[in-house]
Amino acid sequence: MPDSAPPPSTACAEVWARLAARAADPAARSVREKLRCDANRFPRFSASGAGLVLDLSRTSLDEALLADLLALAEAADLVGALKRQMRGQMVNATERRAALHTAARAPDGVGIRAETPDGWQDASALVERERTRLRAFVMGVHDGTIATASGVPFASVLNLGIGGSDLGPAMATEALAAVRPRLAAHFVGNVDGHGLAATLAGLDPARTLVLIASKSFTTQETMVNARVVRAWLAAAIGEEGVGRHLAALTANGVAAEAFGIAPDRIFTFGEWVGGRYSLWSTIGAAIALARGWDSFTGLLAGAQAMDTHAVTARPRRNLPLLFALTHTWHASFCGHRAYACLPYDSRLARLPAWLQQLEMESNGKRVDQAGRPVSFPTAPVVFGEPGTNAQHSFLQLMHQGTDIIPADIVLIARPDHNLAENHRLLLANALAQGAALALGRSEAEARADGEAKGEDPGLAPHRTFPGDRPSLFLHLPRLDPFHLGALLALYEHKVALQAALWRINAFDQWGVELGKRLAQPLERALATGDPAGLDPASAGAVRLLAKLG
Ligand code: F6P
Repeated sequence: MPDSAPPPSTACAEVWARLAARAADPAARSVREKLRCDANRFPRFSASGAGLVLDLSRTSLDEALLADLLALAEAADLVGALKRQMRGQMVNATERRAALHTAARAPDGVGIRAETPDGWQDASALVERERTRLRAFVMGVHDGTIATASGVPFASVLNLGIGGSDLGPAMATEALAAVRPRLAAHFVGNVDGHGLAATLAGLDPARTLVLIASKSFTTQETMVNARVVRAWLAAAIGEEGVGRHLAALTANGVAAEAFGIAPDRIFTFGEWVGGRYSLWSTIGAAIALARGWDSFTGLLAGAQAMDTHAVTARPRRNLPLLFALTHTWHASFCGHRAYACLPYDSRLARLPAWLQQLEMESNGKRVDQAGRPVSFPTAPVVFGEPGTNAQHSFLQLMHQGTDIIPADIVLIARPDHNLAENHRLLLANALAQGAALALGRSEAEARADGEAKGEDPGLAPHRTFPGDRPSLFLHLPRLDPFHLGALLALYEHKVALQAALWRINAFDQWGVELGKRLAQPLERALATGDPAGLDPASAGAVRLLAKLG
């Protein structure tokens, strides 16, 4: 059991202690008994909002536990914290920035302002100006008025970006595969030349529009890849045509211009949009180019609907709040140090990767906002894979391993194909996983079953499932832009609400800095073959690589 000490100096210490005591009682953590004894669990522990249904009936929630969790939310003023974030306050204290991705997807005319060290700025004005410019660009590419250097329409878009400048756009573009494609989309994030070379080998430079997506426009991987791709374009279409094939998506317009991108091809956004929260901003250009402007705005509309729900729904029916509290119960009180994201739709194959950055880069923190070490576990490890594939790999461990790993299971009611049997089987498998995880199978049941089949009784322990393993179901009617937007916003708000409860900063990412800094002398050592000044392990690896390479 983790040390569940409350965050220091909070008004919620009492209820935190009550929850910690509750978690020490195995009966409170049981899922099986609650599911067996309460025929009304589904309606009582599910809620809907922005077109989504969140079903928590396969968790250990009961009325008393939920009451304590909601009391914790109230004592910590979690929804108040979300409102302050959405009003543009400088909630990212270490970087002295607001976290206003919600403004990036807000409708025109809402007049949201962002707090900065120099006062308040009109965030909405910037969003609306750049969204209008991006729309004109996307429409122009689609109708051919913005064309290649030789005057023909673009056939492909290549997005060069990493982290939030890649994962969100790539995931959403793939998820919306049912929408008629306008341009073929390709994404390269890694500096690994294999991926870049393979992608370029499959593309015609004369028909490819290249987006350099980087909030900072300094990220090493993206800049190296951008220079390679620029040279690839120039070699094929001539230096004079390159500018017509490039656009930049960035908060650093000055650096983009210095790179040689024409100002009318630079689409900016505010510093107050964090990288992992940026798919709603001009960073989402690839989604609009590949799936159409209406799909992009549909995505924004779904997220807006979830934003409104998050700050207006009453706590008992508030999806982000219930989602955050249930996950916190698992992570901070029950000691479940990982959870799985299992979308039962192969179009959501990249959802776990997007979620990994969102969850772990945001809340993978060990000090609170004031810099004091926290004394309780924060973000768990997230991993995942679409079902049913996951059932044939790691779900064995989730059913019978020594750790309890809760699962988020995402279901789409109506598919975009007409293979009805396939879809029924897919849904049945998802529901079966939830039931097997929760209910398990006792050794007595395994023994009786084995006896009936004439099996060796020694197999019974191997065929026993402990059960009591929670899963949270998310139901979407369809995987369309609106519901995808709502799903992603739900996860964003869950992460923000948990950070507010843990009193950590969800919007900085200092943990990625050290490795970036250390890569510089290592690159020099690899180039010169001289490992002087490196630690012994790094020096040994540099010498070995020189010998093997
Ligand atoms: O890995 C750190 C990080 O800053 C992420 O937060 C960000 O999404 C990624 O790098 C890419 O940054 P940029 O968009 O500035 O290139």
